[in-house]
Amino acid sequence: MKITVIGAGHVGETTACKLAQKELANEVVLLDIVEGIPQGKTLDMWECAPIEGYDTRLTGTNDYADTAGSDLFVVTAGLPRKPGMSRDDLLEANATIIKNVGANIRATSPDAIVIVVSNPLDVMAFAMKQVTGFPAERVFGMAGVLDTARFRSFIALELDVSVRDISSMVLGGHGDSMVPLPRYTTVSGVTLTELLDTDTINALIERTKNGGAEIVKLLKTGSAYYAPAAAAVQMVDSVVRNKKRLLPCACYLSGQYGLDDVYVGVPAKLGAGGVEEVVELELSAQERELLHKSAAGVKENIAKLSL
Ligand code: NAI
Ligand code: 2OP
Repeated sequence: MKITVIGAGHVGETTACKLAQKELANEVVLLDIVEGIPQGKTLDMWECAPIEGYDTRLTGTNDYADTAGSDLFVVTAGLPRKPGMSRDDLLEANATIIKNVGANIRATSPDAIVIVVSNPLDVMAFAMKQVTGFPAERVFGMAGVLDTARFRSFIALELDVSVRDISSMVLGGHGDSMVPLPRYTTVSGVTLTELLDTDTINALIERTKNGGAEIVKLLKTGSAYYAPAAAAVQMVDSVVRNKKRLLPCACYLSGQYGLDDVYVGVPAKLGAGGVEEVVELELSAQERELLHKSAAGVKENIAKLSL
């Protein structure tokens, strides 16, 4: 198993380090356009191996030749948000980067699975599918695992219970229009709506929707990376160990949920083949409307790009 992480910034370096620590691949390659950065960071990670006890080999590079034959890519290349910016403000600049990255992946690792992280996430996943020409099951995006983790972390604080017992689902695009589903959120099997009143749940949903912005506002120079990297690694784990976990992922839809030719967050079964199934939940009329509204926003942004 050879995994390449594109972009050696905050999310990329943290992802590469976690992949190595968990020995999810024999080789982890970290690529960036800035000379020295991926080389220095992977050398530092490798020097950590004797202490942590992992044998994953690490390579830092600026050359796609070193990524050739990768089984899986995690693409984190792109600009992050600064305070006051929305994810959509990154559209043009990051689309140019994704086109470059996608063309290189197609040329050097034509059979790879690609997990996109760069924002605006759903549009960048669409761009990656277009430029690589890979089938839908091999190109998907990370957002829902992060968004549900945020929701679960806030619920755990509110109820003072273990995060382990909380399970949740968030649909829609990675942005203000995401659709957290309290009906599909449980604490050890008990539905959230039985444990918290509507106002409290709504406050937790609002905090989840603004979870990324809350961290940008505190950091001032960039966006979150520990939880995003952990989320990407959980998705990689399900693929490389063929666990078939049901995780919320940005998937290409071709009719599911009444949506077509768009990427949006939905529950997906992740296994060795990538997205092995998009699971269609029964939605209320209101939930369906919110999902469609969210997808319409993604489509609007896709239309702004020449893909
Ligand atoms: P960062 O600025 O720390 O790192 C980005 C890296 O990409 C830099 O090292 C830069 O040199 C590199 N890069 C730029 N153009 C490149 C190219 N053509 N090829 C290879 N590398 C290139 O940013 P950070 O914090 O790591 O975030 C990365 C991206 O991930 C941003 O777009 C951010 O918005 C997004 N993100 C998405 C999340 C999600 O839930 N989907 C969560 C967190 C971040
Ligand atoms: C986040 O939600 C920036 O999309 C990133 O933290």
